[in-house]
Amino acid sequence: MTTTASTASTSPWEPLWVQGRRYRQLDDAERRLLDEHIGPGRARPALDIGSGDGAMTRHLHHELGYRTTGVDCSPSAIALAAAQDTGPSPGPVWKCLDITTDDLTALPEPAYAVITCRLVYRWMDDKAAFLSRVRQLRAPGGVLWAVTEITGRRTTTDPALLGLGITPAEAETLTGGWSVVRTADLDVLRCYALRP
Ligand SMILES: C[S@@+](CC[C@H](N)C(=O)[O-])C[C@H]1O[C@@H](n2cnc3c(N)ncnc32)[C@H](O)[C@@H]1O
Repeated sequence: MTTTASTASTSPWEPLWVQGRRYRQLDDAERRLLDEHIGPGRARPALDIGSGDGAMTRHLHHELGYRTTGVDCSPSAIALAAAQDTGPSPGPVWKCLDITTDDLTALPEPAYAVITCRLVYRWMDDKAAFLSRVRQLRAPGGVLWAVTEITGRRTTTDPALLGLGITPAEAETLTGGWSVVRTADLDVLRCYALRP
């Protein structure tokens, strides 16, 4: 396990992680979809953006065999993720980094065969700029796996919950400019496998 100290400790996500807020768990159905769409890692580099408690990062690294880096702007999330990675084999690299503003050359690899962002795209203020930075980090032929809630799928009237989804326009921004767009639905979530 390798962790790198924070440059992003002023993130609004930090107090949420400190207070014990947690997000939807990665379950078997979602893992299966990911595995089918991205395939085995064979030690290729993968980047999990907004890695949170690190469940996705660990799955990519330990189960699928990618050489994985998890980045999050919350130092507490990175510490939580790293603390759970206690096995004997070398674990992912954990790095506290704001994907929208920090220097991307601080990442351990210049390019990644797989980039994942689970429950993160919704929170990017400038989604086009975020996607442009993601593209800079994608290896030739690499895939972006994005998981996000879609607006209009909840039956609740709670505005906080209704606001968790992305709009059709935001979905179009996500999928525009890729040659191959595959999607799979899991109740309120949509998973996107995006290839150049
Ligand atoms: C809803 S949580 C999802 C966490 C994790 N991906 C999961 O599926 O459980 C969103 C995560 O994105 C991180 N995040 C938000 N904006 C970020 C940014 N600009 N750079 C890096 N991480 C960010 C937050 O700290 C938080 O851990």
